[in-house]
Amino acid sequence: MTTPALPGPAGVGLVESDRDLEGILALQRASRAPTRDGFVTVEHTMDILRAMHALAPSVVARDARGAVVGYALVMPRETRVLLPILEPMFALIERLPAAQLSPKPSARWYVMGQIAVAPSHRGTGVFDALYAEHRARYQERFDLVVTEVATRNTRSLRAHQRVGFRTVTTYRDATDEWALIAWSWTGG
Ligand SMILES: CC(C)(COP(=O)(O)OP(=O)(O)OC[C@H]1O[C@@H](n2cnc3c(N)ncnc32)[C@H](O)[C@@H]1OP(=O)(O)O)[C@@H](O)C(=O)NCCC(=O)NCCS
Repeated sequence: MTTPALPGPAGVGLVESDRDLEGILALQRASRAPTRDGFVTVEHTMDILRAMHALAPSVVARDARGAVVGYALVMPRETRVLLPILEPMFALIERLPAAQLSPKPSARWYVMGQIAVAPSHRGTGVFDALYAEHRARYQERFDLVVTEVATRNTRSLRAHQRVGFRTVTTYRDATDEWALIAWSWTGG
């Protein structure tokens, strides 16, 4: 299904084309340097994004001209082999007592692999819209979405809390201290 870019506020939908994937990479590159609005850590390539897309399309926000102004990547467990740098996070999630993740027994989870909103569109509801689309598109397949945020990225942590994420655990690796956070869609 095609989701055309809407005039005015950004239109949100699933990735549909290489143009969307190029837009993700461009916004990712622009979001890597730490600023007071946060930063992203993992770098993808077109090949990796295409392989992820083949397994589960990610969510993008587009402006009126169709340019990507926000994205939130979808990473079911099968995608972990594509990004070894995220292996410790997947392994940690698997080691957790299930009840720590969700009140529902055998809850089905996936990872939101990275989120960014273009500076021009921050604070406009795009962040919430990206996650609303995650839920709308993936709640039949999954019970919860898990992600991690560097604890020094306080803007991102605050925005995730607002959407409904809660902290499952925190840990430190060579690069940062991370909060593993989860948003459960089923009460159990
Ligand atoms: C992090 C990011 C995705 C959030 O999207 P956004 O549109 O800026 O987020 P919002 O404006 O909707 O929400 C930010 C919240 O943090 C608050 N906030 C703003 N600056 C803050 C700061 N320095 N510390 C703590 N909270 C802050 C805002 O008040 C708002 O909370 P509120 O709704 O309770 O008032 C976006 O800023 C971004 O792309 N940053 C660069 C890349 C990045 O950090 N990605 C996340 C990686 S985990």
